Amino acid sequence: MIPPTFIHDLLARADVAEVVGRSVQLKKAGANYKGLCPFHGEKSPSFVVSPTRQTYHCFGCGVHGNAIGFLMEHSGLGFIDAVKELASTMGVAVPDDDASPAERAQAEKAKEQRATLTEVLKKAAQHYRAQLRTSNSTISYLKKRGLSGEIAKRFGLGYAPPGWNGLASVFAQYDDPLLVQAGLVIEKEDEGGEASASGGGNSFASGTGSGSRRRWDRFRDRVMFPIRDVKGEVIGFGARVMDGGGEPKYLNSPETPVFVKGRELYGLFEARQAIRERGYVLVTEGYMDVVALAQLGFANAVATLGTACTADHVAKLLRFSEHIVFSFDGDSAGRRAAARAMEAVLTHATDTRSFRFLFLPPEHDPDSYVREHGPEAFEALVAAAVPLSQQVAAQAADNCDMSTAEGRSRMLATARPWLEQLPGGLLREQMTADLAALGGVTADTLRTHWNLAGSGGQRPERTQRGQMPDSAGASSDQRARGDGSAGPWPSKFRRDSNARYAPAKRAPLRAATPLDRAAQILLNKADLWLQYPAEVHELLCEAPPPYGELFARFERVLHDQGPLPLHGMVDELLRDADPDNDGLRQVVERLRGLHELSDEASTAEQLQAILNGLKLDAVNDEINLLLESGELSDAAVQRRNELMSLRAALKGRV
Ligand code: UTP
Ligand code: MN
Repeated sequence: MIPPTFIHDLLARADVAEVVGRSVQLKKAGANYKGLCPFHGEKSPSFVVSPTRQTYHCFGCGVHGNAIGFLMEHSGLGFIDAVKELASTMGVAVPDDDASPAERAQAEKAKEQRATLTEVLKKAAQHYRAQLRTSNSTISYLKKRGLSGEIAKRFGLGYAPPGWNGLASVFAQYDDPLLVQAGLVIEKEDEGGEASASGGGNSFASGTGSGSRRRWDRFRDRVMFPIRDVKGEVIGFGARVMDGGGEPKYLNSPETPVFVKGRELYGLFEARQAIRERGYVLVTEGYMDVVALAQLGFANAVATLGTACTADHVAKLLRFSEHIVFSFDGDSAGRRAAARAMEAVLTHATDTRSFRFLFLPPEHDPDSYVREHGPEAFEALVAAAVPLSQQVAAQAADNCDMSTAEGRSRMLATARPWLEQLPGGLLREQMTADLAALGGVTADTLRTHWNLAGSGGQRPERTQRGQMPDSAGASSDQRARGDGSAGPWPSKFRRDSNARYAPAKRAPLRAATPLDRAAQILLNKADLWLQYPAEVHELLCEAPPPYGELFARFERVLHDQGPLPLHGMVDELLRDADPDNDGLRQVVERLRGLHELSDEASTAEQLQAILNGLKLDAVNDEINLLLESGELSDAAVQRRNELMSLRAALKGRV
């Protein structure tokens, strides 16, 4: 946890114009700066950066935020990473309360190592790119696959020549262990036949090894696909043989400190803008699919790296869009892959997100399909993609004879653990009702039988490496109570859960202000939070002190630990809070003291009215900024009209 005071100071010292200016060309316009919005395609600038407010704002597409927000939006970084990134560009070290000096030193070392590795990989990528320009056979292979030079350039495609030690011409020290760590060079102890078995010949590593070790380039005579992280740094490679080039078809970088296959997606860096423009991300299975789709109008495609789609992948993609379409081959392998993707999205499926599944004819992958049938046909497949709710039902019913009671019961039994993983919300309610109908029972029967009714939602999954999933036997209720040792709850919470979290009976107290009331409602009913879109979260996290910080902390706890009972949540909200931050402490303690919510039905409506009020403030703020800027372009006038009617609409609803 980064201390909020640090973030506050960092923002106070950062210059948003400088941060934005690194990626957007800005021109001075009065007190502000203007440029072309990096978040939507535009020809005349409607993107304004205000140094006095330390914010950016686009009158064309409505994006806005501060320096940290820009880094999050533009580079797809998470909040913490964006803070770290901002701090590092300012040459400030991020304090980390929990870390011991030894841990900090180790983290520092690991960071340096990552920086060195990406530097090495970048150099290699440049080398492969340069080699491609001189290899006519590779160029003609890519042309034969229908790729344009422009697309090859956009994805930084390259070529690794056939020699065993090609990289020796790039790196002065071919025996530098970094080359092995980066996955570019393979090293073997020279123990008789072992090395030649992997090398498949006798011509490698002659003379470059130091004594008893032999080294050779991992990638030889292959088309190189550099894999970039969301910041655009090369973290690994996929490498394809060309016709008649032998096995395996694709060779990938091994996992390294900078490259974790279960987390990275090929093409995400290149796809960021198109994802925003098209409003969804398309997940495919292959390098070639991404590249071909980008060329034929679907630049919003990414690919998993020869692995099934994981919950980590999904979490990463959700930072870019709340709408994900997965594409699969229509064969049995495709159906298995779809099953795994379905399981990876369940815990993320809140009411504002959509996950859909597209099945291609068995003989096709997206590359071959879009080339044979054209972009419109592919677009139609996207439009017809099956939503998660249907996919769950179809998968549950697979191999069940739905004309018998046994088959229907089996279908329901299969579906149960999936439904239990969904966050509590209306999507889960509707899917329960649909499955009940399909299974020939009433929704109430299912709810009682499955114990879904009151369980108030699971935490949104955040699978970390090395963190075991909840043990299969524990019911959602057990987990929500934090019983036993099954769940990954922090021990602090577990210890306290039985003793202190029984709701104390107190006299009813009223919440003091609308924001107080909003906090009270949300703290008591965390699933309401999950039902709101990111825009509302942002609005709340930007509320005036101490509420903005309170909601930001709340979001963080929800994300890391899921909905906690009120008292547990309050403890977490104050954990590591600056002792001098009296405002936050007072509000949070007051919320702890308020009476439990009783009038369930009206709370959501009340909250909505409060949110409308906040939105109205934001609209007024933007109107003022717009008027101040003296902007008269068509986009600005149109935006002002939009804002005016938004204001009129909101006024009636606060
Ligand atoms: P495909 O065999 O479908 O390849 O494997 P592709 O991407 O469509 O490529 P082309 O059209 O044959 O050139 C899908 C993905 O599986 C992984 C790669 O990530 C590949 O893009 N894969 C495949 C490997 O890692 N190794 C292999 O040998 C084959
Ligand atoms: Mn293919």
